[in-house]
Amino acid sequence: KAARLFQDLILSHYRAYGRDLPWRRTTDPYHILVSEIMLQQTQVERVVVRYHEFLERFPDFESLARAPQSEVLLAWQGMGYNRRAISLQKTARLVVDEYGGNLPADVETLATFPGIGQATAAAICAYAFNMPVVYIETNIRRTFIHFFFQDQKGVRDDEILPLVEQTLYLENPREWYSALMDYGTVLKKRTVNPNRRSASYTRQSRFEGSDRQVRGKILAL
Ligand code: ADE
Repeated sequence: KAARLFQDLILSHYRAYGRDLPWRRTTDPYHILVSEIMLQQTQVERVVVRYHEFLERFPDFESLARAPQSEVLLAWQGMGYNRRAISLQKTARLVVDEYGGNLPADVETLATFPGIGQATAAAICAYAFNMPVVYIETNIRRTFIHFFFQDQKGVRDDEILPLVEQTLYLENPREWYSALMDYGTVLKKRTVNPNRRSASYTRQSRFEGSDRQVRGKILAL
């Protein structure tokens, strides 16, 4: 089955070359929330540094909820889009005051919180709670358009989402979405500079044969 081949390729690529990102070493809902809010508008490399600093200064929902707003904004400096920091603190206060300090494991509830939209709510449910949610963001979208739409332009999310649902790796949604994101970042690098021969590019090029093969099988469906 093509869905299975697709899963095997994405997962084996991830297990060989996946990025070791700090928020992948935790399932703490607070840590995942902080990382996802930071990642909304800031690049991964920049977030890695700020994530550690922020969590050292505000290690849990309570400390963030209690802090003066000026200190939260200070810790957010350099990330841009300060509204996110203000929303994040509002969410921390909501969690402490209304939810006994526990982030709810529910997409619809999370999506009503300040600064958390549907995509961030789903990402939190996948990464913190390992729930089989269906969701899409830039790199996931790129991966699906590559395999199921031959890298076409202008593919809509409502065309992609049924495929996300049908191919979801139910055994481990957390690993699956990390794997889809990392495949998408590799595809982006190839598009930006197709002739680049960096060490990681060359190592990963052994996947190009499988990539073509899986796309061919999907196309033949
Ligand atoms: N963009 C949004 N969420 C992300 C994550 N968990 N890892 C990397 N990039 C992301």
